[in-house]
Amino acid sequence: MTAAAPPDPRTLGPDFTAGDIAEASIRPLTLAEFIGQQAVRENLAIFIAGARSRGEALDHVLFHGPPGLGKTTLAQIVARELGVGFRATSGPVIVRAGDLAALLTNLQPRDVLFIDEIHRLSPAVEEILYPAMEDFQLDLIIGEGPAARSIRIDLPPFTLVGATTRSGLITRPLRERFGIPLRLDFYTPAELELIVSRAAAVLGQAMTADGAAEIARRARGTPRVAGRLLRRVRDIAAFHQAATVDAGVADAALTRLDVDKNGLDAMDRRYLGCIAGNYSGGPVGVETLAAALSEQRDVLEEVIEPYLLQQGLLQRTPRGRMLTVPGFRYLGLTPPSPPAARQPDLLDRLAAEPDDGDRREDIDQDDDDANTVRRRPHHG
Ligand SMILES: Nc1ncnc2c1ncn2[C@@H]1O[C@H](COP(=O)(O)OP(=O)(O)O)[C@@H](O)[C@H]1O
Ligand SMILES: [Mg+2]
Repeated sequence: MTAAAPPDPRTLGPDFTAGDIAEASIRPLTLAEFIGQQAVRENLAIFIAGARSRGEALDHVLFHGPPGLGKTTLAQIVARELGVGFRATSGPVIVRAGDLAALLTNLQPRDVLFIDEIHRLSPAVEEILYPAMEDFQLDLIIGEGPAARSIRIDLPPFTLVGATTRSGLITRPLRERFGIPLRLDFYTPAELELIVSRAAAVLGQAMTADGAAEIARRARGTPRVAGRLLRRVRDIAAFHQAATVDAGVADAALTRLDVDKNGLDAMDRRYLGCIAGNYSGGPVGVETLAAALSEQRDVLEEVIEPYLLQQGLLQRTPRGRMLTVPGFRYLGLTPPSPPAARQPDLLDRLAAEPDDGDRREDIDQDDDDANTVRRRPHHG
């Protein structure tokens, strides 16, 4: 970490922060080095091999899933495995159609263009992306008013790799132009243990298997968090002159970092405690919660809730967020008798969806077809 880097706002936050610049050194560079996400890896390996053998550009790929699970890493791996160039940008950075045109016209044949946070592209930019993705053509309007004319530019065939934490916010026409949509999920503790061990080896930190397991269990299913906890544990171990990180050293360090046995921190406890204390366990709308916690709705939805949902401490219903029975128990509270802690009724289950979604109040209608693969329509 450089002296200029601001402190991480939250040790367990999955978003990239200045302190994570160090993570580049432990980033896997090939599919073989990439641990976990087996279905995604297998799909990619097959399609990359196919594209390579035909000498064609790979179909456009969309990665979606919570932050810190490896979307950017995989985008770089795709380019590397294809043996092509890699250009990276992000949705909010591409302001005008001309910005995108400049990027696209500078690509070499079969290059990968990575657009992070692709759900934040402006509609005007998205519009010119469609023909670029589909027919490798760019339709630009030059000039203004009566003198305006449209020109068409042929592009080299390329692969667009998009990444988003919010696939529900991607417009359908854009989403449908990705032939290979791939969804990343939280990692298992066993996978994270491998990731931690590998990262410790890269960093030259001696660590026992149970030390790695302790960090893995508390990393909320997220490699970025695992890497960050590892670096903190290493600092604390060095301070105490512990040469090897075992379970005891890791536990003491993580407790000092306020990361509990379940991988939850003060922010998570505040969130759960707010639903329990202020709203009797819910249901409570996310906007209300955001206001009560003075947090942005996006932060709740993208950063805090996914892991609590995955852990079964929280549930989303059409009427808002609710604590589950394990959620109450986690807080050391006795779950109230129904209705607050009741099982979701049929209506709830029909309307609630598993994961990231759109902004139509609390219900996400993410008709997301996990790891299915669509072919790009054929064109001659
Ligand atoms: N499967 C993995 N194996 C090992 N390390 C990983 C893996 N996935 C992610 N990482 C680590 O976690 C960090 C965050 O990954 P990144 O690709 O930036 O996540 P995202 O783009 O989804 O937010 C990377 O720097 C990398 O070091
Ligand atoms: Mg990323």
